[in-house]
Amino acid sequence: MDSMASQSYCFTYFNEFGEECQAHFKTNEYHSLMELLFDKYIEDWGDCKGRAWCGTCHIQFIEGSIKEKMDADEKHTLSKIGNATKNSRLACQIPVNAALDNVVFRILKDGTV
Ligand code: FES
Repeated sequence: MDSMASQSYCFTYFNEFGEECQAHFKTNEYHSLMELLFDKYIEDWGDCKGRAWCGTCHIQFIEGSIKEKMDADEKHTLSKIGNATKNSRLACQIPVNAALDNVVFRILKDGTV
């Protein structure tokens, strides 16, 4: 077991109203970034329950990025979202671990495909 497993991390995000928020988390506390945000901070997203199909969990990184490769479903869904950029990801496909420490991203509520 990784001795860092219970360490706390923090990231910053801008919600759909443009408000700056901070989220604290521990490694592997949630299956994905979408689940973390859904549970702690946001209520109405994740229509497809994390299958990378609906696009409601669209986020864009402002500082930092995630090395995790995109799978075909995520690529396909992002390609159908009009306001997606090269910094876009689907939060449901992002694991909750130390890579998210200190990143900054914004949530795009209009990402529905
Ligand atoms: S929850 Fe549907 S694409 Fe992420």
